[in-house]
Amino acid sequence: MKNILITGGAGYIGSHTAVALINSGFEPIIIDNFSNSEKSVLKGLKNILGREVKTYEGDCNDRTLMESIFSENQISGVIHFAASKAVGESTQIPLAYYANNIGSLLVILEVMQEHGVKNLVFSSSCTVYGQPDELPVLEGTPRKEAESPYGNTKKICEDILHDYIKSKASARIISLRYFNPIGAHPSSEIGELPLGVPANLIPFVTQTAVGIREKLTVFGDDYDTKDGTCVRDYIHVLDLADAHVKSLEYLEKQSDCFIDTFNVGTGQGNTVLEVINTFEKVSERKLNYQIGPRRAGDIEKVWANTNKVNTVLGWSAQYNLEDSLRDSWNWQKRLSGIE
Ligand code: WQD
Repeated sequence: MKNILITGGAGYIGSHTAVALINSGFEPIIIDNFSNSEKSVLKGLKNILGREVKTYEGDCNDRTLMESIFSENQISGVIHFAASKAVGESTQIPLAYYANNIGSLLVILEVMQEHGVKNLVFSSSCTVYGQPDELPVLEGTPRKEAESPYGNTKKICEDILHDYIKSKASARIISLRYFNPIGAHPSSEIGELPLGVPANLIPFVTQTAVGIREKLTVFGDDYDTKDGTCVRDYIHVLDLADAHVKSLEYLEKQSDCFIDTFNVGTGQGNTVLEVINTFEKVSERKLNYQIGPRRAGDIEKVWANTNKVNTVLGWSAQYNLEDSLRDSWNWQKRLSGIE
């Protein structure tokens, strides 16, 4: 059985990836410090899978813990999700973001090397592109000045991985640049669990729809887009999870000392107002929203060129915006005890 260590595996994308791994014959092992996730996720996984997923509670910056995990288990690959990921927060506490996001990657690379584990899938982000000059954005597009310390940690981690492979390290690495992950598992057993006031659009939409939030503010409608609101590439978390499985399967066929980077998006862009209209259609509820000022740091429009991931990894998004919003809505109703 191929054991795959998922750092941050109790998180939003990590938990959905644990399910996808088992469905593809891998055995996930979770390490999570539960700083941005809840133990209830493990119960949700058990309800979906009918069995528990082996889990270590701890921080992947903790070298002693990581050493023991690799000694106790025959690890054949790592998916590194664990990171601080709030754009706004990162501007307030940049040092914590650099220490956590870069420190944890260094520990993982060193422990993997010691134990001869070669396969690594790294969680990167389209945020490394900033506002691309050309759309859809290609992997070879030069990365721009990061909009936030969070985005900069992703760029630095990508550079660390490239320098590591240039040093002829015996490793096989894929960086996946996520676009905007949304949606939830159709069972409504797991989904996005924003702690506190959601920064991201979809949880704010669904919390507004159930009355947790009074109204949604659309951050600007004076952009150069079809309806003036920002454009993003919203990808179902199930599709995103599957891209990680395809990446591991691909890495197993590569020679040592390998690295590549893939966009993981639908290849389609949608405006904020299109998301709202689609949500109203799916939920059959009117959403209470207002147009407000732009949010600092937002880029205007971005969506993925997916030719490379389609042809090389044999992966493409199977779910559309309606599917994703339906699953997000069902998850929110489950969280709020509404049928
Ligand atoms: C989407 C759109 C907002 C909230 C960030 C990170 C990215 C990734 C995903 C970690 C924007 C608009 C939002 C609201 C709004 N995170 N919006 N009202 O900023 O594209 O991406 O989260 O990996 O790296 O950069 O996502 O969901 O915050 O915003 O109008 O209350 O919704 O302006 O246009 P974003 P988002």
